[in-house]
Amino acid sequence: MSDATILKASDFGDDFLWGVVIAAAQNEGAYKTDGRGLSIWDQFSNRQGKIKGGATPHIACDFYHRYKDDLLLVKALGFKVFRFSISWSRILPMGTGKVNQEGLQFYHRLIDECLALDLIPYVTLYHWDLPLALEKEGGWASTHLLKWFSRYVQVCTQEFGDKVNNWIVLNEPMGFTSLGYMIGKHAPGKIGLSNFLPAVHNAVMAQSEGGRIIRANVPNANIGTSFSCSEIIPATQNPKDLEAAKRIDILLNRLFIEPALGMGYPSDDFPLMDKLYIHNKAWKFTERMRFDFDFIGLQNYFPVVVKYNSVIPIIQATDISAKSRKVPITDMGWEVNPTSFYRIIQQFAKYKGIKKIIISESGAFYKDKMVNGAVDDEKRIQYFQQYLKALLKAKADGMNIGGYFAWTLMDNFEWSEGYHARFGLVHVDFKTQLRTVKSSGHWFRQFLAE
Ligand code: NOJ
Repeated sequence: MSDATILKASDFGDDFLWGVVIAAAQNEGAYKTDGRGLSIWDQFSNRQGKIKGGATPHIACDFYHRYKDDLLLVKALGFKVFRFSISWSRILPMGTGKVNQEGLQFYHRLIDECLALDLIPYVTLYHWDLPLALEKEGGWASTHLLKWFSRYVQVCTQEFGDKVNNWIVLNEPMGFTSLGYMIGKHAPGKIGLSNFLPAVHNAVMAQSEGGRIIRANVPNANIGTSFSCSEIIPATQNPKDLEAAKRIDILLNRLFIEPALGMGYPSDDFPLMDKLYIHNKAWKFTERMRFDFDFIGLQNYFPVVVKYNSVIPIIQATDISAKSRKVPITDMGWEVNPTSFYRIIQQFAKYKGIKKIIISESGAFYKDKMVNGAVDDEKRIQYFQQYLKALLKAKADGMNIGGYFAWTLMDNFEWSEGYHARFGLVHVDFKTQLRTVKSSGHWFRQFLAE
């Protein structure tokens, strides 16, 4: 039973932006084509046991060759915005040094095609695929990172700035610094504070410096950066659990936005934060961490319930899994909780310095089944309906929300989960590259038309 009759896209207003998102490493494939250099994911996926099913991003959805047809799908589903990321190593195969003209030409073709179809491109500069050559020099933990990143942003904005005015500097810095440099679950697979702390500081500096470079090079730029976020719910009202929840809130929600807003790194009696400045010989705040973003992209997939745990070093906290709490979950094990989605948006909307919020990703993995050539993903439709209702309420309650971008156009390379975790509105058969619009894609088409 569809709720489409109740919820209408037009309720969000004429200016509200409806978009769909992909990312270079998850979709493009063509990993050695036309002079592209390797990224950390190309190498990481070759390491035994790192990715489910031994999957690699080498071919993925072959978006590199199929972008024209895929953009027609975006158009057919009725989205106005197409958010994609640029592969740094396609532009600068060694991360720095020589520019790869063929790489530039690919993005020119992609952007031109968007514009020809009247799709608004939102370009993410960094969606987790660092050039491998730079990782060999220390990657995000290197003191040279800012210099490398600045050059890359210069090249991209000088090249595409006359066609693209919507830019997202980083995608989920907490995601790539913690998974990639603290717990080693993602590329480049590094662990420990000596990697994590400099990676965090470099990402804080890169997001603001990236913003400044875009501002200087792109007339009428609309500049944002995107954050993962989760409502943090203390397991009990016990002061120890409350303190633990505060620490996790700092890590998962406040660490990157507050320095960007000029508030400095959050501290609130969290020793990890002191280690952060000491390790980086940095101040809690310097003016260079600040940038006046035009919008902030929020990406929320689950809330986190936190309890005190003395055994865990430094953070002294653990989460209580959604499964054990017996709440509704997606097939990723992530809690489905639209009220919590509302509350985390509300938490960010309270920051005075945030001018506008865009939900720059939102979506769910369910184990879809292809039956007689069709995928009936009713659970995903319900997921979107519930989250969009919560979003409409947030908007009606006065939060300045400018758009909603669904994650994701089509099933793709879901990082360490490989290809089994399907989030798409469009099903992809990875053997034949056949695309099949799922019921959720059809639902969106109908919803956006109303
Ligand atoms: C956020 C990331 O930006 C995206 O790359 C990922 O696929 C989704 N979350 C789902 O896990």
